[in-house]
Amino acid sequence: MREVRLSPAGGYDNSARDYAHITATPMASAMGALISGVAIPDLTDEAFAEVQDALWRHKMIFFKDQRLTHAEHEAFALRWGPFAPDAYTNGVPGHVNVQPLIKEAEARSKGLFGSGWHTDSPFLPEPPGVTILRSVEVPPYGGDTVWANTALAYRTLSPAMQEMLRPLKVRMSARNNAWTQKMADGKELNFASDAAREAAFEGNAHPLVRRHPVTGELSLYVDEVYAVAIEGMTGAESHALIDFLCRHVTQHHYTFRLKWEVGMVAMWDNRSALHLAANDYDGFRREMYRTTMAGERPA
Ligand code: SIN
Repeated sequence: MREVRLSPAGGYDNSARDYAHITATPMASAMGALISGVAIPDLTDEAFAEVQDALWRHKMIFFKDQRLTHAEHEAFALRWGPFAPDAYTNGVPGHVNVQPLIKEAEARSKGLFGSGWHTDSPFLPEPPGVTILRSVEVPPYGGDTVWANTALAYRTLSPAMQEMLRPLKVRMSARNNAWTQKMADGKELNFASDAAREAAFEGNAHPLVRRHPVTGELSLYVDEVYAVAIEGMTGAESHALIDFLCRHVTQHHYTFRLKWEVGMVAMWDNRSALHLAANDYDGFRREMYRTTMAGERPA
């Protein structure tokens, strides 16, 4: 008989720490916290250290009522380290590292950028660590972003499955994403340059189970947009394993869903979270700006 997949119990701990300079309010059992009591441009070093701790703990955090300028967004981003290369765009005028994500009200797209479950740019040799996204204009409903906690998902696998996965490497490539976007819209996916496209298609092999460089926590590094093969496996084996893991990670009880308001800032740790942008707001404009911060070679 086939076992019915039940909502798993155990392994959840998204409780907030008691911080001195910020307040973190957990938003779901699996992940996500609202950070309040601070204006991002005025964060002291002590408050910033608590924001960092909250991000590692909750995997995704967000702030309300910030209304940052591009320059304030960049200044906050640089407190996390240098910018990561962006394969897809060359930024906005005067701010090469601030990537616009804008969908006009009249635009119709079956394959919106970011609308499949993914971690940011894992085809790079050193994929981005942290991503920071801010909202300037949002639809009255729809256009939510959803995150899934890949560390929690790893913890809830059986010990036998964890042991099998730990030595494996997954090849991450932008090739399937580009093909999918072309099938959806008939248009080529934009890349910052031809060299960026070629490198993104070739991609890189990374550990399927990676260790967080700060917390030491293990998480699954696999997604439905960029993971194309498991090294040493046949295509059929690879696809079955990647499909299983993607379905496992994205079960709704491992997720948090944010309804955007104007002036918010959300950020996530690509090492321990997947995300997607819901493509469900035709007829309304959505204007967002994103920065990605340099990460390390996954280990
Ligand atoms: C992304 O960074 O993948 C896009 C997220 C969003 O637009 O909500």
